[in-house]
Amino acid sequence: MKDYRKILEENNQGSLLRFIDKLDESKKENLIKQVEEIDFEQVNKLYETSNIEIDKAIKGVIIEHVPFVDKYKMEESKYNHLEELGSNVIKEGKYAVVTMAGGQGTRLGHKGPKGSFLLNVKPKEKYLFQIIAENLEKENEKHEIVLPWYIMTSTENNKKTVEFFEEHNFFGYPKENVYFFNQGNLPLLSEEGKLLIDENYNIKLASDGNGSIYKSMKKEGILDDMKKRGIEWIFIGAVDNALLNMCDPILLGLTIDEGNEIGSKSVVKANPHERVGVFCKKDSRPAVIEYTELPESMAEETDEDGELLFGESHIMCNLYSLKAIEKIAGQNLPYHSAYKKASYIDENGNLVEATEPNSYKYEAFIFDGFNYFDNISILRGRREEDFAPIKNKEGVDSPETAIKLYNDYWKL
Ligand code: UD1
Repeated sequence: MKDYRKILEENNQGSLLRFIDKLDESKKENLIKQVEEIDFEQVNKLYETSNIEIDKAIKGVIIEHVPFVDKYKMEESKYNHLEELGSNVIKEGKYAVVTMAGGQGTRLGHKGPKGSFLLNVKPKEKYLFQIIAENLEKENEKHEIVLPWYIMTSTENNKKTVEFFEEHNFFGYPKENVYFFNQGNLPLLSEEGKLLIDENYNIKLASDGNGSIYKSMKKEGILDDMKKRGIEWIFIGAVDNALLNMCDPILLGLTIDEGNEIGSKSVVKANPHERVGVFCKKDSRPAVIEYTELPESMAEETDEDGELLFGESHIMCNLYSLKAIEKIAGQNLPYHSAYKKASYIDENGNLVEATEPNSYKYEAFIFDGFNYFDNISILRGRREEDFAPIKNKEGVDSPETAIKLYNDYWKL
């Protein structure tokens, strides 16, 4: 067994060691066990990447446009061909849907899993999970199948999510086809790179970002389960888009037709500063630059027609072959750091409430998986059909804007 004292000293975590020394036996034992499970090599590497200036993240990288196909600007014959191609795969039971529901929804200010947020749509208010369930049920009817539905949760919200589904009888979705699985965690680090302790005397962990989905699907047996069922294509979408189209045969047909293993839907960016990632090519490979990492000058750049140069938004409407997910699951995606508020217990056992950002959180981003492929298919859809995000309490991308988009789309 490794000596925890040595591990902590060698990794610049002396303050945690002093903290542990002051604890009673049971708390001490609990923390030592957690220390032994930490991959300090990874933690130290993560700390080194903290606080990289925005421009540095893309410095020296050649950024180019990525071609896309407009869903409504193609020949009718092509549209019909793609529709048939995609529909057949869905009808043959080779398609599954994954909902990413591990995020915290901090900006929305909703306590509990984001999917349990009630949206006041017509004719009757609906939970976000309910909207997804109902949309999948419509697809099931249309294609005479039952789509397997996998839901990624975090350690923090898994229990609450499962209970929420049970309380609502899975919104009528055949429950034997709904599966929950957890994503991973990573430690939060202080500005000085120290591990933090939470109110329950555990090392403070946080979800490791939606990019951990690939490894989690492998680790949690989801990929094996899909293989057993003969699934070949997997849709992965967010929990917080009231207009998410999870079964667009055109997206699937286009991806197959173009011989790609990944397809993704885009919409035109509403304004240069909309908080969405944008598609591009980085060093000739398909990529997305996240809104937190896009320099302002690039966000505002336009072409000769006045269109935004980086205006194709990633709306988290992503499609993969099973092989593509397996391939990405075998890679180590980069982590992006975010500077966040985190309350913690200090060396003297006092709770420190954070009023300002004071710590780094590390997240893998789902779209960094695109980088392992030469090409992906991008289908430009329409905002009013595909994208009603619920991010903020009020204003842009709020329940109010999503309700309007939802009611208009369903003509309610
Ligand atoms: C995300 C996208 C952004 C896109 C925008 C569209 C990423 C990194 N960014 O940004 O490119 O333009 O949506 O609305 O994907 N989630 C987890 N586990 C986590 C973190 C998030 O499951 O650890 C899930 C959330 O539950 C949600 C989705 O990922 O379903 C989006 O997460 P969020 O953190 O809200 O992303 P945005 O910052 O809005």
